[in-house]
Amino acid sequence: MDYDKFFEEELKTLKDEGLYRTFRSIDRVQNMFPKALETVDGNDREVEIWCSNDYLNMSQNPEVLDSCINVINKLGTGSGGTRNISGTSSYHVKLEQTLAELHNKEAALVFPSAYTANQATIATLCRNIEGIEIFSDRLNHASLIEGIRNSKAQYHIFEHNDMDHLSSLLEATDIDAPKLIICESIYSMEGIRSPLKEIVRLAKQYNAITYLDEVHSVGLYGNEGRGIAEELGLSDQIDIINGTLSKSFGQLGGYVAANANIIDYIRSFASGFIFTSSINPSIAAASIKSIELSKESETLRLRIRRNSKFIREGLKSIQVPFIDNDSHIVPILVKGPLECKQISKLLLDKFGIYIQPVFYPTVPKGDERLRVTITPKHSKKDIESFVNSIDEAWNILGFDRVEEQIIHNQI
Ligand SMILES: Cc1ncc(COP(=O)(O)O)c(C=O)c1O
Repeated sequence: MDYDKFFEEELKTLKDEGLYRTFRSIDRVQNMFPKALETVDGNDREVEIWCSNDYLNMSQNPEVLDSCINVINKLGTGSGGTRNISGTSSYHVKLEQTLAELHNKEAALVFPSAYTANQATIATLCRNIEGIEIFSDRLNHASLIEGIRNSKAQYHIFEHNDMDHLSSLLEATDIDAPKLIICESIYSMEGIRSPLKEIVRLAKQYNAITYLDEVHSVGLYGNEGRGIAEELGLSDQIDIINGTLSKSFGQLGGYVAANANIIDYIRSFASGFIFTSSINPSIAAASIKSIELSKESETLRLRIRRNSKFIREGLKSIQVPFIDNDSHIVPILVKGPLECKQISKLLLDKFGIYIQPVFYPTVPKGDERLRVTITPKHSKKDIESFVNSIDEAWNILGFDRVEEQIIHNQI
């Protein structure tokens, strides 16, 4: 086999399809956000970030930085090993207690990322519960899908948020078979919620357990940012909640929270937990501080809501197509990977607006978009100038306008 030829040809096909990814390196300098620096030809230029998941800007919060630096000064940087082999510090233990409390669960388990938390937890549960059948929303995140595939269990995909479809799939399954329903609380690429109450109702009716990915809602929704399960009063009815430390909390790592037996089981059997080094103690300490501050950050959450309303009004006024939800994620629809890359490049090069193009496999082919994320740090002036830049870019590229938006009422 000519290995090099194989890789070259695969990459060429990807490029021909317009699906090759390139990264622009942007330094999010502290105190500047949402402004940041891009180095072009050896010179720094200021750009503005419109696609960060550092939703509350906790990654640059001075109190969070202090917590992190204090622990680095005390314990050093790396954790020293897997959780079992010298990699459990008092900060890991405290972080897990903090997360369990956040989600009103008995216990929590921290992983190096929410991706590995999803993949390892689902694969471990479903590989070991004999005869389990999985029911997964069509738009579930890649990490959930990987967990399902790795488990080798039988699975059913229900159409996105389609409760009739989920119900009919459950109905057609052996009543005695164990079942797991998997969904997200806010879908990351759409900013739309799942019908969680109905999912919990169906789970009860068909004796299924439930797995909820709250990665894009924790820190932002619910009382003290405890997530959507909490907001809907469903925390005790969702069996396993997954979340991340890397978005609203601005650090790195992910977790699952559940009852003590489930967490102990995952801790004891999940290869993706056992055989990987734990997060740095300084990151655990920064996460604890960040969660504490996020709980008190109602003003920031209100600002996000206000800003996302401004941006939606602006986009409506210039008749650009977007998914009209009421979350902090505003997806502007630009069909075609090449067109999406084109507008993203134009926005950065001409207007200094940094927003990544999103295309397959992150979203299905034909659903390409610019995924705008609003933070409390964007000012009204920033939003106005963003909308004006989109308007101008739309004109330059001759993209179609729309009279009506796709409206998604929240459930
Ligand atoms: C819905 C969802 N789940 C899980 C993850 C993985 O999170 P992490 O970055 O902590 O691995 C992501 C990442 O963006 C996500 O969008």
